[in-house]
Amino acid sequence: MSLDLSPEQKAIGKANFDQASGDLARQGRMRTLAVGGPDDPDRRDVLKAGLAAGAVVPVSAAVYFGYQSWKGNKAVRTALIGTGDEGGVLVGDHNPEFNEIVAICDIRPTNRKRIIEGEERGPRKGLRRHYGEAVAREIAEKRTYHTVDALLAEKDKLGLEAVIIATPLNTHDIIAKKCMDAGLHVLCEKLMAHDVSRCKDMIRYAKEKGVLLSIGHQRHYSTLYAQAIELIENGILGDIRYIRALWHRNNSWPYDPKAFNDKKFDKTYGIPAYVDSWWKEVPIEDAKELTPEKLKELAFADPEKYGFRDVAELVRWRCFNRTGGGLMAELGSHQLDASSIILGHVRPLTVSGVGGKFFYGRGDDPSRGNDREGADTVFVTYEFPGRTYYERDDRGHVVLKNGKPIINPKGKDDIVIVTFSSINTNEFENYGEWVMGTQGTMFLEKEADVYLWRERDKSKKGDTGGRDTKITVTTAGGGKAVMESTSTWGGGGSSASTGKAAGGSDWNSAVRGYRTEMEHFAYCIREWQKRGQKVSYETDGNGHLKYADILPRCHGEVAMADAILALTANIAMETGQRIKFRDEWFDPNTPDAPEIDFKKRA
Ligand SMILES: NC(=O)c1ccc[n+]([C@@H]2O[C@H](COP(=O)([O-])OP(=O)(O)OC[C@H]3O[C@@H](n4cnc5c(N)ncnc54)[C@H](O)[C@@H]3O)[C@@H](O)[C@H]2O)c1
Repeated sequence: MSLDLSPEQKAIGKANFDQASGDLARQGRMRTLAVGGPDDPDRRDVLKAGLAAGAVVPVSAAVYFGYQSWKGNKAVRTALIGTGDEGGVLVGDHNPEFNEIVAICDIRPTNRKRIIEGEERGPRKGLRRHYGEAVAREIAEKRTYHTVDALLAEKDKLGLEAVIIATPLNTHDIIAKKCMDAGLHVLCEKLMAHDVSRCKDMIRYAKEKGVLLSIGHQRHYSTLYAQAIELIENGILGDIRYIRALWHRNNSWPYDPKAFNDKKFDKTYGIPAYVDSWWKEVPIEDAKELTPEKLKELAFADPEKYGFRDVAELVRWRCFNRTGGGLMAELGSHQLDASSIILGHVRPLTVSGVGGKFFYGRGDDPSRGNDREGADTVFVTYEFPGRTYYERDDRGHVVLKNGKPIINPKGKDDIVIVTFSSINTNEFENYGEWVMGTQGTMFLEKEADVYLWRERDKSKKGDTGGRDTKITVTTAGGGKAVMESTSTWGGGGSSASTGKAAGGSDWNSAVRGYRTEMEHFAYCIREWQKRGQKVSYETDGNGHLKYADILPRCHGEVAMADAILALTANIAMETGQRIKFRDEWFDPNTPDAPEIDFKKRA
């Protein structure tokens, strides 16, 4: 949903995106698209064979992300740790040719069952539908584990090579480290860890153990984002000054107590005051098995850090500061990740914001009651460095902030503002990112669609622009892509959003990135095995990874930067400050971290 766009305007925006992509592809400026034609100099993509001259199609995700040479490889034997909502999505979208789920592990009995059965509708298809009755039963009866230690004790028997971790935030680092210790490759869900020191620990472990560590910010593997970013890198939007990211949800309708199923759910832990996906009902079956004593036993060595005080805290982990990271960690981190990629893989300079528990009431208030600690409303502002931003150090030397050579430097005035808002009380605009430049606007909606509109050129009399205007693209403007109004769309184009797998839904394609993220992870594992060496995160003289093409795109350092963005915003809101990001926080080789700096000051 986008604020005031008519269906026609959205159709134009979508077709503009396709048109611009096609026009630039025919000029040889897109890697996400293949162009047909006998004289095409670039034969990189197998899809080009047989394409009519000038025809444009998306390259396959495997080609774009560099794992087209999978043939002949065996699927990676993988265990899923954490079989809840996200574990269900990952199972629903995984490709068994790349990742074979051979075992599962979870402490909640209800979710152990749910991952086998799946759900009738939606993305959580369950293991039965993927592997058939016999294999699903085998996993349910013989290869289901209640604790990570029990799973790891049988890793050799299972022939385990990798794990996918989809557990609550406070447990990511301890579980990932245990698995890496056991020599397993790890794909762990985002946010990377509960605090930055724990992210640094995970990075160090991956290096020491020589295993892959990939973090599940799926936009790094989304063909939709890849194509949009290519257009932006071609200069289609001109000078970007503002990105508006938002994730607004509707969680403010009263929960009907009559709908509470007391055969299924335990009243002891309260009935939700609102229909809210974070503050859920507690299943009786989980409550029976997971007494506080039992949870303590399961909580690794440090219950305060890694455990859950009771089953309600486990079920509602997102709502509490000790177990979750709130709206910034759960939602904002994805969109700030996308914003920093769009702006050229840069880190922000500052963050400030306002947020709090402004809607829900106190836990003991039965009408609005909700004992969550985290904010229900946030609005944060980041200052990012523009392409020509630089600072001077104490000796007057220029310090670049985006690592790019400077043309026409502007210095400290070259700021791009990124705002992120998340509310629980109104989903009218829902979620997406608006990227606003001097020449145009791009809107990435719900990880599923993308639109493009041109700004009106006020220096040209009668020039049209805006949401009703159809465009084509030239590169007349000194190599930069320029949108021009047109009444007739030419040869058309193509986009990842229209290039979904035949008959597939959003969930079953590379558009969202889950499937491709897991496929690439498997590919990297096999490539390192072929080389017969441990995974190396070695860098060259310029600090770039030497083996970047066989390491996850969202490896530890990338994901830690996302965690820093999200977690520092929380500190900014709590302390009411405009916080400057320190380079040392992003350096895994130093112990510096925002939570340490701000605890010292408090
Ligand atoms: N990439 C995305 O778009 C996306 C979307 C949603 C969630 N996530 C992430 O996925 C992770 C899980 O989220 P969720 O929504 O599935 O939560 P969830 O509560 O639905 O599921 C978490 C599961 O982990 C299990 N668990 C907890 N501690 C465990 C332990 N010590 N050992 C084994 N199992 C344990 C729980 O019992 C539960 O079944 C979070 O990190 C979340 O941020 C990512």
